[in-house]
Amino acid sequence: MAGSDAKRGVPDRRRERRDYKERRTSERRAGIDRRNEAAWQPIALEVAAAGAYDDAALVAAAVDARGHARARFSGFKVGAALETAAGEVISGCNVENATYGLTMCAERVALYKALSDGKDVFTRIAVVADTDDPTPPCGSCRQLLWEYCGDIDVILSNLSEVKRRMRLSELLPLPFDSRLLE
Ligand code: THU
Repeated sequence: MAGSDAKRGVPDRRRERRDYKERRTSERRAGIDRRNEAAWQPIALEVAAAGAYDDAALVAAAVDARGHARARFSGFKVGAALETAAGEVISGCNVENATYGLTMCAERVALYKALSDGKDVFTRIAVVADTDDPTPPCGSCRQLLWEYCGDIDVILSNLSEVKRRMRLSELLPLPFDSRLLE
């Protein structure tokens, strides 16, 4: 049955799910994947802070990307920089358009760029806007970041200083994700 489906080019969903789980398990064992069950609970701030990363380079990449923002309708320019587990940085800016509704946030631009380049495991994202208060990712971005990046660190910065550092689970404490579909 599955064999003849495969011959006809029908995707074998059971096999896909098994491969996906195997991949997740090996990544989890390697200790680099933030997408795990523990992430259901917000992680304590002191644990998040214990990473003591150097945020400056990631924030600088987000500041650069912000310079490319297409934000003529809102005037609100945002830059984001997503770090992979391998230490690569993929950046994005917000892209608005005349219908307004098709606007894409900087975070998702960075995420989609990274995913379409085959990047799979992420550790941090920096978000930069020219505001005194931190500019956190919108609800849609939180959902997408959660599903594709897991409980990554989120660095919220303006043009001169980091205003806040959080884990994504603090921004999205009770997520809906693929585990609920299993
Ligand atoms: N925006 C982002 O790009 N990221 C955020 O975290 C918040 C909002 C953009 C979308 C829109 O182009 C402009 O900021 C105003 O909402």
